[in-house]
Amino acid sequence: MTKRTFHVWRGGGDDGGLTRYEVEANEGEVVLDVLHRLQATQCPDLAVRWNCKAGKCGSCSMEINGRPQLSCMARMSSFEPDQSITVTPMRTFPVIRDLVCDVSFNYQKAREIPSFTPPEGSEPGDFRMSQADVQRSQEFRKCIECFLCQDVCHVIRDHEENKEAFSGPRYLMRAAELELHPEDTADRRSIAQEEFGLGYCNITKCCTDVCPENIAITDNALIPLKERVADRQYDPVVWLGSKIGLR
Ligand code: SF4
Ligand code: F3S
Ligand code: FES
Repeated sequence: MTKRTFHVWRGGGDDGGLTRYEVEANEGEVVLDVLHRLQATQCPDLAVRWNCKAGKCGSCSMEINGRPQLSCMARMSSFEPDQSITVTPMRTFPVIRDLVCDVSFNYQKAREIPSFTPPEGSEPGDFRMSQADVQRSQEFRKCIECFLCQDVCHVIRDHEENKEAFSGPRYLMRAAELELHPEDTADRRSIAQEEFGLGYCNITKCCTDVCPENIAITDNALIPLKERVADRQYDPVVWLGSKIGLR
């Protein structure tokens, strides 16, 4: 075991601050292991959310030395032996206490997306999806709802005022998943642009960069959705089609 220096956010968002701890770490451990040792040995009231410890539940999201990541996947060996480690809650969401945030913003945005809308009268088994269409939505469905992409996106990270108008990459990706689904009949393009704030995204790709499931959020969801919105707005044939009821 070696002693490591941790600076951990304690308290609420406005009245909290960093507290320094010296804590032991074993070879092969991850940051969440060390936080659990801190709870067990020095601060039993440290609030930290986690569940699977396998990178699959999306609960243990936090910022480690400023980078949004899953603490159960952040290997201690990825830091220099004498490097101190600063652990803070996700900055984009209100802090409840210590490392735990209120992420209800995300559930609210999820509820605002109109659900899958198949053609009227369509019965189960009427339609067979091609493998390419299946694979496209499967990539998006790897999402574990860790909200790291939502946390890192600059549109809302330091701009509380943008939250109402912008759903964030995770929910724009859901809009893209449905828009690209061959059997979905709802018009996701105008909803994405006008209600979910697709135009705020300027393709910085930070969301893709932090996604623990390596989903190509920007290239495979946001850019294709933007292209479809642009087609609708600027292609006269598509525009005319939309006016007379064709997609
Ligand atoms: Fe997390 Fe990736 Fe899903 Fe965003 S898209 S919530 S980063 S798993
Ligand atoms: Fe934000 Fe991702 Fe766009 S980080 S700006 S949603 S590419
Ligand atoms: Fe489940 Fe980290 S504890 S993803």
